[in-house]
Amino acid sequence: MLRKFEGLILDPYPLRTIAKGLIRRFKIGNYEQRVKIGAVDRPWYGYIVYNAAVLAKKLGYPRISVLEFGVAGGNGLVNLEEHARQISKLCSVDIDIFGFDTGRGLPEPSDYRDLPYCYKEGFYEMDIPKLQAKLKSAKLVLGDITDAGKSFFEKFNPAPIGAISYDFDLYSSTVMALSMLERGEKYYLPRVFCYFDDIIGTEIELFNDYTGERLAINEFNQTHRNIKLGIPYHLVSAEVVEPWYHRIYACHFFEHSRYNDLVTGGLPHELPLQ
Ligand SMILES: C[S@@+](CC[C@H](N)C(=O)[O-])C[C@H]1O[C@@H](n2cnc3c(N)ncnc32)[C@H](O)[C@@H]1O
Repeated sequence: MLRKFEGLILDPYPLRTIAKGLIRRFKIGNYEQRVKIGAVDRPWYGYIVYNAAVLAKKLGYPRISVLEFGVAGGNGLVNLEEHARQISKLCSVDIDIFGFDTGRGLPEPSDYRDLPYCYKEGFYEMDIPKLQAKLKSAKLVLGDITDAGKSFFEKFNPAPIGAISYDFDLYSSTVMALSMLERGEKYYLPRVFCYFDDIIGTEIELFNDYTGERLAINEFNQTHRNIKLGIPYHLVSAEVVEPWYHRIYACHFFEHSRYNDLVTGGLPHELPLQ
């Protein structure tokens, strides 16, 4: 009996959760309103793609790319396609989506940093023909990221990347994916919205700063002076903090030629004495 109501009892804002669920389910209001309050499927994907498109629009980029590292069955990629379709219409920015995966599931964990107590070779195998048949526009980039990451830019000449989901699970794979951020400003917006799937977890995973995706992030920041993955403090200090807010980062390219372009037009820039 108690189990039935467990969710509501543990939820500090049950009415808000119910209202949000109804808005999402019955698509009440327009897409922009729903994505802004997180009342969409995979709101973290909506958040990174929407904000990337808003930044692109402000800076005058007509087209951007969105990457998903780790596709598995493809539910995330299909969801990204739908967000991109809506956001593209809304912001008049074209959006290309690329999904990276071995197609054969996880590679073998290398050492303790890959968390072998959580992950095993072959987990999350993809049904490639089934996914290919379902995809409308997203492109699958198959193969280990160590090779696929190297040839990606030459092969696809992608529009500047504005949003990235990191969901490779393994430290070693995430390190390779993060190294793609070094390919130069032509391939990136000056600030890129990022989502890291495996940095919170439960008592089982016990994700921490010394293994997995968190270690990859920390090492990246320590070894890159002019590119940093930063915590978006406006999200984690919101009045109501959704758990996924803690999985969002913004990648700052401090030396990007557009990094310093003013993007606060529309906000008040005068504070006259009252
Ligand atoms: C948890 S799954 C991704 C789930 C997916 N993002 C979703 O939301 O449904 C992790 C995926 O990362 C892929 N992966 C891990 N390391 C990889 C590597 N080195 N190269 C390519 N793919 C890799 C695996 O094949 C696996 O399918």
